[in-house]
Order: sequence, then structure tokens, then C-alpha cells
Amino acid sequence: MSGLKTTGEVGAGTVLERVSRNARSLLSLNRSREFGTLCRMLELEPADSLLDVGSGDGYWTERFARRVGQVTGLEPDDAMLGRARRLHDRTNIRYEQGVGESLPFASATFDKVVGVSSLEHFSDPVKGLEEMFRVLREGGRMAISVDTLSPENSSTDFREWHSTRHHVTRYFREEELISILTTIGFRVEPVTMHIFSSPLSRWARETFNKRPRQLLPLFPVFRGLVALGDALPSGTHGQIIAVCAARPAAAGNGEAR
Ligand SMILES: C[S@@+](CC[C@H](N)C(=O)[O-])C[C@H]1O[C@@H](n2cnc3c(N)ncnc32)[C@H](O)[C@@H]1O
Repeated sequence: MSGLKTTGEVGAGTVLERVSRNARSLLSLNRSREFGTLCRMLELEPADSLLDVGSGDGYWTERFARRVGQVTGLEPDDAMLGRARRLHDRTNIRYEQGVGESLPFASATFDKVVGVSSLEHFSDPVKGLEEMFRVLREGGRMAISVDTLSPENSSTDFREWHSTRHHVTRYFREEELISILTTIGFRVEPVTMHIFSSPLSRWARETFNKRPRQLLPLFPVFRGLVALGDALPSGTHGQIIAVCAARPAAAGNGEAR
């Protein structure tokens, strides 16, 4: 499989940027779980072509690219794209500028489509999901993680802080998302993953995320509390969910993979 792109000398600034990015990812209470879940849901194969919608600075895009043949990172933000090309490029990745609501790709181009916490930032998430369906090949799989804050699972204070800080346009509930996906034509898999689904794990997230610097020495404790809380049977809706769906093969074209 292709490796990291070498773009000549790497400056001290780039090294520091990379170290700081890696540290931020390692110090997230949820992102590596989202990534692992999405990889499993997508059933990635070495020959797959994967579209990562809302690829940000490419940190996770590059990790997907270690597992499949070709990855396209689609991102609207110039600064993010620049960082992705500088820090997280590989010979099997291409980064493109664009928005999820109008994907600059022909229909039925990709084997797999993923979105890591990006859909809730779209100005028109339903259009974004329709576009994901359009660019997927028949039998292809789509998996996305989204923030799903609601009065049931979060404090008003945390929701307001989170939506402002992270520019969220819409929080979804599982059943809303499944209904939208089904209407579009996806076959939704019954494997939704809920993260921060208990009062304990939610308390840990809300407390840590608001003061990450001060609480940094206690990160392993908070991570343990989240793992413990999410392992408890709670029956409540998580603050983040990951869902998976397939684009069914048209009748006569065989079964979806
Ligand atoms: C929370 S970040 C996640 C980035 C990346 N997936 C990650 O996990 O590191 C959300 C990303 O969605 C992008 N985004 C916002 N609106 C978008 C849209 N309409 N279409 C595609 N991406 C969008 C943002 O620019 C941002 O990079």
C-alpha cells in the first residue's frame, strides 16, 4: 500500500503542528472510538475507494488511507485543506475543496463514504445525505458519526456552549437520521453505536471538554469514567451516535455487499 508523501524538508513548525495535532487526537474522549466504530461499520477492504466528507485537517483521513486503496478528502475550509495537505498527505489521498451538499464527483464513484462528525455542520444535512447516496456505488456502504445533543441527554448550558463553539447547524436523534436515510433509499443497518450514553460518561465529557487544559493530568481518569459509564446499561440516547447504511443494489444486480 502507498505510504506517506515526502515533500522535502520538514520544518520545525510543521513538526510542532503535527505533535500538537496528534496530542489533541489522543486527548479526545471520543474520536478514536468513533474512528474504530466507523472502520468496522464500513467493512473496509484494501481495494476500496473511500470518500471522507468534511475531512477537516486530514488527521483521520490519513488513518483511513492506511486501510484502503484510495481516499478522497472533501473539505470546504481553505485553512483545513492546507493543513491536511501539509500534515496528513499520502500517495493514495487526494484532497478536494467542496461542500457535502454538492459533491464534485460523478454518481456511483465510491465504494465507501464516511463522515466523521461533519454532517451536523452542514447548512443542508439532508441534501448532504442525498449526495452521499448518489456518489456511492450500488452495494456500497456509508457510515457517519454525528453529535446528537438533546434536552434528554445534555444540559442546556453544554448544548449552547457546544453548538456555538463547534458551529453546529442541527443535532439529530437516531430515529430522525434513520428515517431520513430510509427515505433517501439507504438500507440502514441495525448497529447504531451510542457514545456518552450514561449520566456518568456525559458528566465526564461536559466537565473535561470545557476545561481540557486544567484537567489534562486527569485525562486517563476521565477516559476511564467514560468507558465505565458507556459500558453500563443505560437505555438513553448518546450524545454522539455512529450509524451505518448501505446503498442497495438495484433489482437484478445482485445483493449489497
Ligand atoms: C468537527 S470537524 C470534523 C473534521 C474531521 N472529520 C475530523 O474528525 O477531524 C467538521 C468539519 O466539517 C466541515 N464542514 C462544515 N460544513 C461542511 C459542508 N457543508 N460540507 C462538508 N464539510 C463541511 C468543517 O469545515 C470541518 O472541517
